[in-house]
Amino acid sequence: MSRATGFGPALAPILALALGLLAVGCVSIPEELADHPCPDGGTTLTWENFGHDFMRSYCVHCHGGPNGYSSRALNTVEAVRVQRDRIFINSALDNTAMPPGPDDPPRDERVKLAEWLACGAP
Ligand code: HEC
Repeated sequence: MSRATGFGPALAPILALALGLLAVGCVSIPEELADHPCPDGGTTLTWENFGHDFMRSYCVHCHGGPNGYSSRALNTVEAVRVQRDRIFINSALDNTAMPPGPDDPPRDERVKLAEWLACGAP
């Protein structure tokens, strides 16, 4: 059967394109909370010493409640805890969907956010 490997050449350009898009980050696979457990030693980060400031600096001007740009409120620790998987997938580590504007948190803040959320947003 001479057609046994016939798909190889036809698929090659498609595969190359897909890999290329992945490489330049056009198609990125978001990192999820479920894949990032709380570190063994727990965390020293809390709403008081980290979460509140992070949300206030980067999120609450749009997610401040019913009169915000989004009706999704992220201004209390309870609200953040309930939505922590969605917050993670949008904002932690290399997930940069949120905030959408130019005032992005620095990478080390996104790393702290990941740890804090992974430990249950204490
Ligand atoms: C410039 C305004 C703005 C800022 C700043 C902003 N958001 Fe958003 N966000 C929106 C809008 C608009 C939506 C879409 C409406 C909705 O789903 O609430 C949204 C949607 C979301 C969603 C729901 C989408 C999903 O995938 O579940 C989450 C979670 C979220 N934002 C988290 C955050 C976090 C965390 C921050 C801060 C790091 C942030 N946002 C900063 C405007 C903003």
